[in-house]
Amino acid sequence: MAKDIYVGLLGFGTVGTGVVRVLQENAEDIAQKAGARIHIKKVLVRDITKKREYLEKVELTNRPEDIMDDPEISIVIELLGGLHPSRELMLQAMEKGKQVVTANKDVVAQFGHDLFDMAEKHNVAFRFEASVGGGIPIITPLKECLTGNRISDIMGIVNGTTNYMLTKMAEDGSDYNAVLKEAQRLGYAEANPAADVEGMDAARKAAILASIAFNTRIQLDQVSVEGITNIEPADINYANQLGYVIKLLAVAKDYGDRGVNVRVHPVFLPSSHPLASVKDVFNAIFLRGNAIGDAMFYGRGAGSLPTASAVVADVISEARDIVNDQSSPIGCTCYNKRPFCPLEDTESSYYVRLHVKDEPGVLGAIATAFGDSNVSLKSVIQTRMVGTNAEIVAVTHVVKHSHLQKAADILSSLAVVDKIRSVIRVEAE
Ligand SMILES: NC(=O)c1ccc[n+]([C@@H]2O[C@H](COP(=O)([O-])OP(=O)(O)OC[C@H]3O[C@@H](n4cnc5c(N)ncnc54)[C@H](OP(=O)(O)O)[C@@H]3O)[C@@H](O)[C@H]2O)c1
Repeated sequence: MAKDIYVGLLGFGTVGTGVVRVLQENAEDIAQKAGARIHIKKVLVRDITKKREYLEKVELTNRPEDIMDDPEISIVIELLGGLHPSRELMLQAMEKGKQVVTANKDVVAQFGHDLFDMAEKHNVAFRFEASVGGGIPIITPLKECLTGNRISDIMGIVNGTTNYMLTKMAEDGSDYNAVLKEAQRLGYAEANPAADVEGMDAARKAAILASIAFNTRIQLDQVSVEGITNIEPADINYANQLGYVIKLLAVAKDYGDRGVNVRVHPVFLPSSHPLASVKDVFNAIFLRGNAIGDAMFYGRGAGSLPTASAVVADVISEARDIVNDQSSPIGCTCYNKRPFCPLEDTESSYYVRLHVKDEPGVLGAIATAFGDSNVSLKSVIQTRMVGTNAEIVAVTHVVKHSHLQKAADILSSLAVVDKIRSVIRVEAE
């Protein structure tokens, strides 16, 4: 006879509802796979009077202690969102000996260390597969299936909103503000889209991925972040002409003795790269390991059921551990203390778009500014007139970021340069 396992659910919104639905609809199979029947016993919400779907078999409460103090509840799923009280409730649940599952990248990126310490102290499991890439399996693959590798590179499209916007800008030729409005109308972007378009959402996921891939703790404030707010249709057009697409990537690279670097920024990506074909709200994580070589994980990075898919998988893993009396869950895997390689010391080639005065000698002055900064140029195209200015696009060879910055400083100070419109890294060539 299968055992009964009782779960306390914190939050009954988009993902919480999906979790209840998946656990109900797939109950028979899940019981076989887990070796136990999994019941959502109590659900914490703010407003217990609100009309909701999937309410038949759950008991709503607005008092966290109803879940924390219930000895029958052995697994707590946190789906409230935000830092507080999510962090405190997860810590409390662990103190009470409950296993914890969350989809909350904010808490994992910022307080993962506290949560792992508490989980270890009380010998409970802490799982967070859905916190990066929604329904795409990536945390467990990194911690288990790929753990025999040394991972050297990760490049991820981990924010569906910005990937949708960049896809639409490329396909329809629309500008940033128009696609943002459309994304908001479709419910892909929040009324306040800052966390998505300015790159912080991707930065949190980058910090989590890099910490696990490189086995060293990456703090959120170490991640350099640039969003997509400055991308103009002109950049999308040049990318297309030159054989690239523009994507917002979370990039984590191992530079050996120099340490690891983690960053989020738009990139020019060759249109033949597997990540270039990841469109709309889809997410994908591309990585390189010294045994597996290149691998890519692709799928839906958000949404009620896709995200519930990852949460429920974590719950089933924890239920199996309970059924099998396994008391040594995989804890924190950050056993290294790697140095952080500053952004200035990283290298890549760059696309630079400038507006300059339309007069003789300008190209020479620009070439000198790059040359004096140790930046060699692969190609320079003078393309079109924009008002009274000429537009010039340069693509550099692989150079140090600090050298490119020096060139940009010199260029900005030249009287013939009206404005540097864009500087975008070229990755994966
Ligand atoms: N949505 C996605 O596609 C997605 C994808 C990946 C990860 N995630 C993560 O999953 C988590 C949940 O996201 P969501 O989209 O499901 O959020 P949501 O729709 O806003 O739902 C949040 C739920 O938590 C409850 N809640 C919030 N604060 C509370 C508090 N202080 N006390 C009691 N109840 C509280 C709300 O109660 P009421 O219903 O009474 O308001 C609601 O039921 C977040 O960490 C998010 O980052 C979401």
